[in-house]
Amino acid sequence: MANLSFSHKLLVGFIGSLGVGLVGVIALTIWVFASHSNTPSRPDPITINPTAAIGSSGSSVAIKDITSKLARELGFDVMPAVTMPLDNPLTDAKIELGKILFFDSRLSGNGLLSCATCHQPTLGWGDALDINFGYPESLHWRNSQTIINSAYWPLLFWDGSTKSLESQAKAAWTGATGQNIDSMLLEERLAQAPEYVAMFKDVFGTEIPLFDDALRAVAAFEATINTVNAPFDAWIAGDESAISASAKRGMELFVGEAGCSACHGGPLFSDFSYHNLGVPANEKFVVDPQRQLAFRYQNRKKGVPEHDYREATNDLGLYYVTKLEDDRGKFRTPFLRDLVQTGPYMHNGTISTLEGVVQFYNAGGGSHDNKDSLLSPLGLTSDQVADLVEFLLTLSGDPIIVEPPAMPEYEVAG
Ligand code: HEC
Ligand code: HEC
Repeated sequence: MANLSFSHKLLVGFIGSLGVGLVGVIALTIWVFASHSNTPSRPDPITINPTAAIGSSGSSVAIKDITSKLARELGFDVMPAVTMPLDNPLTDAKIELGKILFFDSRLSGNGLLSCATCHQPTLGWGDALDINFGYPESLHWRNSQTIINSAYWPLLFWDGSTKSLESQAKAAWTGATGQNIDSMLLEERLAQAPEYVAMFKDVFGTEIPLFDDALRAVAAFEATINTVNAPFDAWIAGDESAISASAKRGMELFVGEAGCSACHGGPLFSDFSYHNLGVPANEKFVVDPQRQLAFRYQNRKKGVPEHDYREATNDLGLYYVTKLEDDRGKFRTPFLRDLVQTGPYMHNGTISTLEGVVQFYNAGGGSHDNKDSLLSPLGLTSDQVADLVEFLLTLSGDPIIVEPPAMPEYEVAG
């Protein structure tokens, strides 16, 4: 009897857990389905033809007489079309709304910072500083990235810590070193401007503007800011005269002896991965208490162990996201498009010219215990350095200038 009741209990327990399990499976399916259809997701990173990485630094692979046909075979190409998440298709009205939001400085804690303050159209959609100013009293310690071509990134920021333009915009608006505004306060500021209310209703069908829709709109606007008219694109499309002989020699070095394409491959010139080049620390990172406190706050908030940030003498990049030893000091390989507009260079803006960047690689990069093994001294002559720079210049398109739009006025509702 005792046995029977024991096995009975077991049976009940089994059926019970089956039930719970079943509910779990159903819930999980709904969750997966819902998150698949609701969470913005980026397309997979563009696959780079592995043969693009034919050179590695220090190797002596020599490429001669490069043509656009050969370059395409190596994985280079014109820019692909932008793909938006399923729940955020591009429409003209949404892009227009996103543009206004991008320029609206009322959407910040102190009412003084808009996205455009740090991503200025006339400064290559960045701020032209080595490291960004952040929010008053919480100064930033990294270079403000350009938003040109940002819709192509599967993971955003120098350390890839954000998965979509929409979630990046959330971090920018609410982050203490960004615009530092609470999402509900942002909604109220939008709701107080009838023109905004009408635009949100038109685009998203809601009675009052919602924060998540503001994220979608600003992402839609950013997705329209992409390289235009780069000489390289005309060349790769078949116009052999679109780039100079010097630029072609530069490309031969890029995919050959200089080994750049081992990391900067494909139409956007990135492997979408992370490397440690031994870029030296920016002095301001080391000595400025307001940058240190913002850096420490951010890492503390993310749950990084205290010893990894409190005495840090350099930014450890990807390590703070993955906590893997091998990721110390790694940063995302940037696109090399529109560089003419986006200096100073590197995650901390410590190199101010393209020639300086190429000389940095020519010297084998900087020094760091975890420096990438692909980097070693290149022995390039000054003419070769000039050719490489000339090639990099062909990847820059026309400045994308957008005039700040008129701001919807506040009104007290009747
Ligand atoms: C106070 C300056 C500041 C403001 C305001 C600001 N940003 Fe940024 N932005 C930065 C900095 C600095 C980074 C790089 C941070 C990092 O990598 O840790 C960045 C990175 C980005 C990136 C990532 C690009 C890439 O290549 O991964 C995007 C996109 C972006 N910002 C969009 C926006 C939008 C949209 C807004 C407004 C909602 C905004 N930013 C407001 C300073 C700012
Ligand atoms: C091992 C991979 C790797 C190789 C090889 C490599 N790069 Fe880079 N490149 C990167 C990474 C990663 C960064 C960002 C590093 C940082 O900020 O700490 C970068 C940054 C740059 C930048 C600055 C871009 C910006 O927006 O700040 C330029 C320009 C550049 N590389 C050009 C080149 C050229 C030219 C070569 C060949 C001489 C080359 N790279 C070789 C990985 C690589």
